[in-house]
Amino acid sequence: MSTLTVELGERSYPIHIDAHLLSKANLFDGLIKSKKAVIVTNDVIKPLLLESLQSCLQEVELEVVVLPDGEQHKTLSSFEKVITRLLEIHAGRDTTLIALGGGVIGDLTGYVAASFQRGMPFIQIPTTLLSQVDSSVGGKTAVNHPLGKNMIGAFYQPKAVFIDTATLTTLPAREFAAGMAEVIKYGIIHDVTFFDWIEQNVDSLLNQEQGALKRAIFRCCQIKAEIVEQDEQEAGIRALLNLGHTFGHAIEAEQGYGNWLHGEAVAAGIVLASQCSVKKNWLSTSEFCRIEALLKKFQLPITAPADMGMQAFMKHMRHDKKVEAGQIRFVLPKGLGHAVVTKDVSDELLKEILTHA
Ligand code: NAD
Ligand code: GLY
Repeated sequence: MSTLTVELGERSYPIHIDAHLLSKANLFDGLIKSKKAVIVTNDVIKPLLLESLQSCLQEVELEVVVLPDGEQHKTLSSFEKVITRLLEIHAGRDTTLIALGGGVIGDLTGYVAASFQRGMPFIQIPTTLLSQVDSSVGGKTAVNHPLGKNMIGAFYQPKAVFIDTATLTTLPAREFAAGMAEVIKYGIIHDVTFFDWIEQNVDSLLNQEQGALKRAIFRCCQIKAEIVEQDEQEAGIRALLNLGHTFGHAIEAEQGYGNWLHGEAVAAGIVLASQCSVKKNWLSTSEFCRIEALLKKFQLPITAPADMGMQAFMKHMRHDKKVEAGQIRFVLPKGLGHAVVTKDVSDELLKEILTHA
């Protein structure tokens, strides 16, 4: 098992990574002090993984809350459902919440943990590639509002993250690819050597060879930890993790959530951001082509939806959380392995790349 720590003083926590973690009987030793825990999961993951998790928690008094699957259930109504169950079973601030699922379950459970009696311990067990490399680490928790995604939330760090890479074997290929968009993102913003390595290991990753998978997930978590340690609440460099997200969120919102997966929208968004960089001479054409080709190898979209023009993008981008004093903040690659946050993207430049999008 590989372990790394997110160093945040008294809120520091370990990330454990290995195949078949969920078959280790002593996995949670010493972590659930009150011996009371509530697992939150959904109806897709329950038949796949709940029994294994329960068998790691034999000494613990357990309750399970099963929510319906899907982004459309990442709502205040699901939040209330979990809170109601916690009250019904007389959970206390010492009860541990365990999120078993992808980013939807992780974000929602984290927000419940942040809110219930002003904060209870929680553990992340991410089961999608996207949640293993991104959402389970760093403490962003949220639910959606009908008027905006992730509009209600808190920064609240877990006590530990357990990444069982073998859980990905049942993940639909399209969801796996969506996670790969985030993996590639880390290479572009922070580590060209990692980008090279992904290029050389496409087949091993697509075949989910455990060695390659563990190495990729470890490196992503390491980069995310490094960034979050410097900027936990996104006052500065954490925004780099949003490469592709300004354009991507606009695509997701315009197409209707769920029609384009988050990672798919991020992939097309990365290409648009990279086109901006080429226009600004921050990225060479050959670097751009490498980015596009790598996303394509994972069957990710590299163009925006055909029916989406400048107006549709602007409508959503102006309402993004990343807007500051009326100006949209963009994350743009500046050479492979490096990126910057900038408001300096003119309407003319946007028009140029979005007209051809
Ligand atoms: P998801 O949680 O909806 O999971 C995708 C699908 O895979 C679901 O149908 C789920 O039930 C299913 N699934 C999960 N694990 C499975 C498994 N092992 N086998 C088979 N099916 C499985 O989506 P996601 O991509 O994991 O997460 C997207 C969410 O994460 C969005 O709500 C997004 O806003 C959020 N997010 C949060 C952060 C953060 O920093 N907190 C970062 C990125 C994304
Ligand atoms: N997914 C972006 C972040 O955690 O900041």
